[in-house]
Amino acid sequence: MQFNFLKINSPPLVGVDISSTGIKLVEFGEMGRERCSLERYAIEPLPKDAIVEGNIAKMDEVVEAMKRGWERMGSRSRHVALALPAAAVITKKIILPADLTEDEMEIQVEAEANQVIPFALDEVNLDFQILNPVPNSNNDVEVLIVASRKEKVEDRVAVAEAAGLKVLVVDTEFNASQTAYEGMAHILPESGRGQIIALIDIGATTMHIMVFVNHVMVYSREQSFGGNQLTLEIQRRYGLSSEEAEKAKRKGNLLENYDLEVLHPFIETLALEISRALQLFFSSTSYIKVDHIVLAGGCAVLPGLDEAVANRTEASTLVANPFVGMTCSARVLATKLAVDAPALMVACGLAMRRFDTV
Ligand SMILES: Nc1ncnc2c1ncn2[C@@H]1O[C@H](COP(=O)(O)OP(=O)(O)OP(=O)(O)O)[C@@H](O)[C@H]1O
Ligand SMILES: [Mg+2]
Repeated sequence: MQFNFLKINSPPLVGVDISSTGIKLVEFGEMGRERCSLERYAIEPLPKDAIVEGNIAKMDEVVEAMKRGWERMGSRSRHVALALPAAAVITKKIILPADLTEDEMEIQVEAEANQVIPFALDEVNLDFQILNPVPNSNNDVEVLIVASRKEKVEDRVAVAEAAGLKVLVVDTEFNASQTAYEGMAHILPESGRGQIIALIDIGATTMHIMVFVNHVMVYSREQSFGGNQLTLEIQRRYGLSSEEAEKAKRKGNLLENYDLEVLHPFIETLALEISRALQLFFSSTSYIKVDHIVLAGGCAVLPGLDEAVANRTEASTLVANPFVGMTCSARVLATKLAVDAPALMVACGLAMRRFDTV
C-alpha cells in the first residue's frame, strides 16, 4: 500500500468514499482518462452516528455496510482508493526553488511540516505535490504539503481490509473532488479556464467550499451546515423518525405544506449560507467575485436550490455531474444516476486515480 495522498496508482481500482451518510462506491471501465465509462456504482447507507465528524465511531457497522455495498455493486476487483476528510488533513502551501532534487525537496518539506504540524512526524503520513510556478519569481514553485495522523489513515484502511479489500491509494477528499471537477469542467464556459469557479459540496452535516482558478485550488474551507437540518425539521414538523423523514425528503412534495413551509425556507437559508461563505472567501483573499458556482453533494439536487443560489450570489449556478459526457454500462440506471451524481464527486475522483500516469 502507498501512503501516498497525491500520486500514482495501478489499475483496476474502485473509488470508496466513506462519508457520514453512506459508503459510496464508483468503478470505471478500461477506457483511459480521456474517455471514461462508468461501469458500476453503489451507495450503501450507514447507520446514524457510525461516522462522527469524519471519524469512524462504529467500526463493525461500517465494515458490515462496506461488505453489503461491495456485494451489491458486484465488482470483480478488490482494489480500492480511499479518501481522508478535510478535517483529518493538514495542508500547507510553501514556496521552493524549482531546481531542487526530489530528495532535497523532501528535506525541505519535512522541515516545514515540523513547524506546522502539532504532532511528532513519526505519527503522521506526509506527502507533497508541486503545484505551479510562482508568477514573477525567478525559478520558484508552489508546493502543497499534505499531512494526516497515521491513526486516521489506519482506521479507514482497517475498514476496507476487514471487508476483504486491498487499499492501493489513500487520497484526500478535496483532491478527489478536484479530480472529479476537472473531469466535468469541459461543460463550463472556456472549460473553466480564466474563470473563478466555486465548487460547493453540501452533504448531510458539512458544507465544503472550494475555489478553483485555472484548475488550481486557491481556497478550501469547511463549515458545519447540511441536509441534516432539513431532515430534522421534517421529523419535528410531521412527527417522523429520522429514517422516515429521510425517505419523505427524497420523494419530496408529499407532505402537507412541505414545499411552502419547510423546503423553501431551508433552500433560502442554504442559499444565504452559501453567499456568506463566499463573502468570507472574498474577505480572506484578493478575489472579489466568482464566475460560476457548481453545487455538489446530496443537497445539490434539492429542487430550486440552483436558482436560489444564482439569485442571491448573482453568479451562474449549475448542479455538478462528474459523469457528464461519459458512457455508462447497461447496469447503470440513468434516472437514478441523475439524482445520485452530485453526491458521488469524491468517489468518482478516487476511481479516476485508476487512469493516473506515474
Ligand atoms: N434526492 C435527494 N433529495 C433531497 N435531499 C437529498 C437527496 N439525496 C440526498 N439528499 C440529502 O443529502 C445529504 C447527503 O449528502 P451527501 O451524500 O453528499 O452527504 P455525505 O457526504 O454523506 O455527508 P457529509 O459530507 O456531511 O459527511 C443528506 O442530508 C440527504 O438527505
Ligand atoms: Mg460529503
